[in-house]
Amino acid sequence: MTDFQPARGTRDLIGEEQRRFRHVVETARQVAATYGFDEWATPIFEDTRVFSRTMGETSDVVTKEMYTFQDRGGEGLTLRPEGTAGVCRALVSNGLTQSLPQKVFYAGPMFRYERPQKGRYRQFHQIGLELIGPAEPLADAEVIACGWHILQALGVAQDTVLELNTLGDKESRAAWREALVAYFTEHQAALSQDSLARLDRNPMRILDSKDEGDRRIVAGAPTIGAHLTEAAAAFYDGLKAHLARFGVPFVENPKIVRGLDYYVHTAFEFVTTKLGSQGTVMGGGRYDGLVAELGGPPTPAVGWAAGIERLAMLLEAPPPSAAPVAVVPVGDAAEAAALDVLQALRAAGVRAEMAYRGNLRRRMERANRIGARAAVIIGEDDLKAGVAQVKDLGSGAQDAVPLAEVAARLA
Ligand code: HAM
Repeated sequence: MTDFQPARGTRDLIGEEQRRFRHVVETARQVAATYGFDEWATPIFEDTRVFSRTMGETSDVVTKEMYTFQDRGGEGLTLRPEGTAGVCRALVSNGLTQSLPQKVFYAGPMFRYERPQKGRYRQFHQIGLELIGPAEPLADAEVIACGWHILQALGVAQDTVLELNTLGDKESRAAWREALVAYFTEHQAALSQDSLARLDRNPMRILDSKDEGDRRIVAGAPTIGAHLTEAAAAFYDGLKAHLARFGVPFVENPKIVRGLDYYVHTAFEFVTTKLGSQGTVMGGGRYDGLVAELGGPPTPAVGWAAGIERLAMLLEAPPPSAAPVAVVPVGDAAEAAALDVLQALRAAGVRAEMAYRGNLRRRMERANRIGARAAVIIGEDDLKAGVAQVKDLGSGAQDAVPLAEVAARLA
């Protein structure tokens, strides 16, 4: 017999872990709704070009990490490595590019062929927001404030720091790129092979390098600040002023470039020191060119995504699941009445369970094992009297309650 395990980088979510997950998603969904975001669900696989065109041909995700396959009809498909491209594709496919703004919340699985480690998986899960339409920095601030609000509602905000940067507009980036190429060319003898390859195609990627030698050179690399156009600088100042008004604390980090190529102006990450090397819990920014890459009109947009696994790990205590009520018939004759009570409890919204077999002792043992808060015991005499013994399993107190009133009593 083969001993099957989950595929490398994937996990089963059972019991407490799934409860943590659900708590993250439900909390985020609720907070996002108060900011006016509506939930969308887009397919888990898309035409490969939806991702290859938008995320950057030189990005790690596109060059090494996509789960790409041909289906039986010969279509080139990819399991989504992130949510933004799919949401923008859906905006265009559904003719919504003239119905702006669109404020989108989503949650679901994403897939990247990465080296698995704590906090990094091949199937992982994201919650995310995309605000499509507005070009104003107020939109960036609102999206970030909503993210901050979600972290607060989860009780993990105090463990994170918001790191903020601007990548400027096209003009600023071109000037900065030139300065980067000049700087890295001067130091190319010391650069890693990977970074040398990036020098021509995408020098900004070098800033993201994890290589020790590269990191030393990157430390002295020019930052975009000196190359910002007046408009780009004004945009960034506007964003910072709005964040201050929203009461969202941040630090500026000119080294934040993000791993995907579609960003302009705003780039940000909420990071934590509590998860080891995989410390980015939420990341995003502005991506004004993406909708056009997918065949829509030029459309400004800003958003973020957060790893549910990482947020779930930061949660203090998992939310408890409701303690059930155990229904305990004694003898065959009581079973029919017990089933009526069982269904009445469920109809009243009470989590209720009845064992499939066993005598009184066995059934009470099981009630304790499942953490029941109360037992509803129906014996022969009870049946004749039309009552059940409702026993509080915390205090041990017990009293007789008419069968028809049991559900109301325990609701
Ligand atoms: P990202 O930075 O690639 O951005 O991913 C966002 C978050 O997803 C990360 O900060 C991390 O918490 C989580 N994450 C990413 N990869 C993994 C992994 N292999 N295992 C576990 N968690 C992971 C995006 O995906 C953009 N779509 C964000 C965005 C939305 N930008 C604008 N709108």
